[in-house]
Amino acid sequence: MDLSVNVGGLRLKNPLILASGTAGYGVELLPFMDLNRLGGIVVKGLYPYPREGNPPPRVWETPCGLLNAIGLQGIGMEKFAREILPGLSKLDTAIFINACGEEDEEYVEVVKYFSSFDGVAGIELNLSCPNVREGGNCPALWPEWSYRIVKASREVTDKPIIAKLSPNTGSLVEVASACKEAGADAVSLVNTYLGMAVDFRTRRSRLSTLFAGLSGPAIKPLALRAVYMVASSVDIDVIGIGGITRGEDLLEFLLVGARAVQIGSITLREPSAGIRILEEAVQLLKEEGYNSFKEIIGRFEIV
Ligand SMILES: Cc1cc2nc3c(=O)[nH]c(=O)nc-3n(C[C@H](O)[C@H](O)[C@H](O)COP(=O)(O)O)c2cc1C
Repeated sequence: MDLSVNVGGLRLKNPLILASGTAGYGVELLPFMDLNRLGGIVVKGLYPYPREGNPPPRVWETPCGLLNAIGLQGIGMEKFAREILPGLSKLDTAIFINACGEEDEEYVEVVKYFSSFDGVAGIELNLSCPNVREGGNCPALWPEWSYRIVKASREVTDKPIIAKLSPNTGSLVEVASACKEAGADAVSLVNTYLGMAVDFRTRRSRLSTLFAGLSGPAIKPLALRAVYMVASSVDIDVIGIGGITRGEDLLEFLLVGARAVQIGSITLREPSAGIRILEEAVQLLKEEGYNSFKEIIGRFEIV
């Protein structure tokens, strides 16, 4: 069976990618599964410098979901490149950087820095983290802001650029179009949905921040719609993300137009989930008489 897919100008051995922030820098998962079997790994968000993130508490479990306000804690691009990337890039899977910045220039600095590393397959621009600016503001809420960062990044790299989009905007399709116009090779969506958790007894937020990002199965129907909206209206490759926990979920995202998927929160609960989900999806394809993942991409039908 042909498991490969093509996305953003890359050929992945299969459509299952580990999402940023839920798989550490990849190497943390080595004891749990054979990472060579994955389509790809997106590492935790990287700034040009180390960051501590938000103070605790930073996670709160909700029915079928997880609220997080990590705030992009990380070791910074140089330490990652020195200490982790050499080992990681020996794996036979596509490695993606998740580039972050407080200012537009910082995104571009990260993109430029990793452009010269052979072990990096592509760069995902994290335009959509809701936990680092007041009120959840981020570039991916605004077509113009997204355009600026993608365009400036395009000028400093030949590597595939994936713009990671936010569902917390009424302009999702316009943002995706702006990313395409600016030269993105693909978009990935969704990042987390803005939410709150309140403690009745203390009358305060359960997290150290006012708002946090919701992920996990609770968001799957919302994410599926978001992916469908973008894939059916913008001519750009889409990577689907949001609440995937089973092989059937993966196939649903491909049906509505995603060319690959990322799995996030499920890895926190079940570190080797990626392999299980992939195997379940392959089994289901076989049962329905398909010979490849490619055959079902975008094959959703409106009756
Ligand atoms: C604890 C945690 C940390 C995350 N960190 C990042 C990050 O550094 N960069 C990023 O682009 N997305 C980050 N995300 C968002 C995920 O990559 C993903 O888009 C989101 O969780 C939805 O997928 P899921 O429902 O499968 O978890 C994080 C999510 C969680 C739960």
